[in-house]
Amino acid sequence: MTAPATPHVLSNDFYAPLKARAAEIEAQFRSLTPVSAGLFEQAKGLFPGGFTRDAVIRKPYAPFIAKGKGAVMTDVDGRTLFDLWYNASSLPLGHADARVIAAVDKQLALGTAYYAPTESELALAQILCDRLASAERVRFANSGSEAVMIALRLARGFTGRDLVVKCEGSYHGSYDDVQWSVAPAKDKLGDPDHPVPVPDSAGLLDSSDRVLVLPFNNPEILRREVRARADRIAALIIEPMANRMGLILPTPEFLIAARELCDEIGAVLIFDEVIAFRLDYHGAQGFVGITPDLTTLGKVIGGGFPVGAVVGKVDVMAASDAARKNRVTHAGTFNANPVTMTAGRATMEALTPDVYESINAKGAKMRAGLEAVSASVPLTITGEGSFFKINATSEAITDYRGAVTVDGAWEEVLSLALFNAGYLLTPHLHGCCSVVTTDEQIEGFLVAFADLITA
Ligand SMILES: Cc1ncc(COP(=O)(O)O)c(C=O)c1O
Repeated sequence: MTAPATPHVLSNDFYAPLKARAAEIEAQFRSLTPVSAGLFEQAKGLFPGGFTRDAVIRKPYAPFIAKGKGAVMTDVDGRTLFDLWYNASSLPLGHADARVIAAVDKQLALGTAYYAPTESELALAQILCDRLASAERVRFANSGSEAVMIALRLARGFTGRDLVVKCEGSYHGSYDDVQWSVAPAKDKLGDPDHPVPVPDSAGLLDSSDRVLVLPFNNPEILRREVRARADRIAALIIEPMANRMGLILPTPEFLIAARELCDEIGAVLIFDEVIAFRLDYHGAQGFVGITPDLTTLGKVIGGGFPVGAVVGKVDVMAASDAARKNRVTHAGTFNANPVTMTAGRATMEALTPDVYESINAKGAKMRAGLEAVSASVPLTITGEGSFFKINATSEAITDYRGAVTVDGAWEEVLSLALFNAGYLLTPHLHGCCSVVTTDEQIEGFLVAFADLITA
C-alpha cells in the first residue's frame, strides 16, 4: 500500500490537487465507457436530463450495467467493477445469489401476481415480527417511500393530529411531507436551534402546518420544540442510522428523549429503517436498544425486488384494520407481490445472526483501513455495521451541520477516479460490504484509495 500523504497538510492544499485533475479523470472515464455514453445519449431523448431515477444521477453520465454476480458487476463496455454499494445497500447477499434465484425461479413458474393474498406474504411478515421488537402487525408496500407515506398516514389517523417532526439532513424517500431539509445548502440552513425548512423539490405545498424540521442529535431542542406543540404532533420520524449525514448513529440521549417525548404527549415514534435495518438481525432498533411504535422498511427485505413495509404495534397498526369504518386505507396492485415476498424470504432466511456479524466485521475492517490510510489528511471516515462513508472534511460529523462541511466537488472527483480504478460507490463516497465482499477486495480498494489521495 502506498504511504499516506505528509502529515499536517493544510485542508485547502489537500483537496486542490485531485480537483485539478477533474478533466483528466473525466476524460479517462469517457474513454472507458463509450457504450454507456451512447446509451446516455439515447436516454436523454427518453428521460428528462437522461435519468429516470434520481439516486443514480452522476456527472458526466452513469455507467450502464449489463450484469452482476456476487460482488462483481459488468458494465455494457465489458469492464468488471467491484460493487461497493449493492443497489443502495439492498443486496446483502450480493448479486444473483443462488438461493434467491432458485426461490424466485420456483415462484415464476407458478405465476407472478394474483388478485388475492398468498402464503408467501405470511412467511415474510412472520420473519419481520420474529426479528423486530416493534413488529406486531405488518403492511407491505412497493418502496421505502411508500412505506413512509403510509406510516405517516397511520400516525395521523391514530392520533388525529397533523404535524410530523423530521430531522434536518434526514432522507426518508420521496413522499412530499418528508422532502424538507434533506440536503439544504449551507447558506439556507438558518439558526442551528431553529432550522429553516428547505424544500428538496419543486412542486411541494406549504409545509408549515404539516412538517416541523428540528436538528438531529439535539435532545434539548427536541424536548423544548415538541413540548411547545404537544397537542399538534402526530409523529416523530427518525433514522436510527442517518444516511445523508454520513451513515451515522443518533446518540442514545437523542433517541431516549424521542421515545420519552412520544410517550409523554401520545405521539407515534417512527424509526425509518429502510436502510438501517441492515445493521443487525434485530434491525437498527435492536442495535440501538430503543423500540419505536412504527418502523418503515424496504431494500433488503425484498431480496432485490421493489419493496416497502410498515410494521408496528397492534394499537397503531389497527388504524388500518380492515374491519374499521373510518380507517386508514392503503391499496396497491403489487403490495405483497409473491415474487418479491419469495425473494425477500430467501434473503432474510440467509441473513442469520452469524451473517450479520460477518458483514459488520467487513465494514469495520473497511473503516479501520480507511482511517489508517487517511489518518494524516483532512478526511473523516464514518459509518456503522457493514456501512462506510468517506467525508471530505476534517470536522467530526454528528449532525447535518457537520456533514454539510464536506468538499462535495472533491468527493465526486474521487468517486469517478475510483470508478476508473474499478470500484462503484455513490458519487459522495457512501459504501457497504455484503456477504460476498472479500478481504482481497477490501485490501485492493484501500490501495486504490491510498494511491488516489496521495497522488
Ligand atoms: C431512510 C430511507 N427512507 C426511505 C427511503 C426511500 O426508499 P425507496 O428508495 O425504496 O423509496 C430510503 C432510500 O434510500 C432511505 O434510505
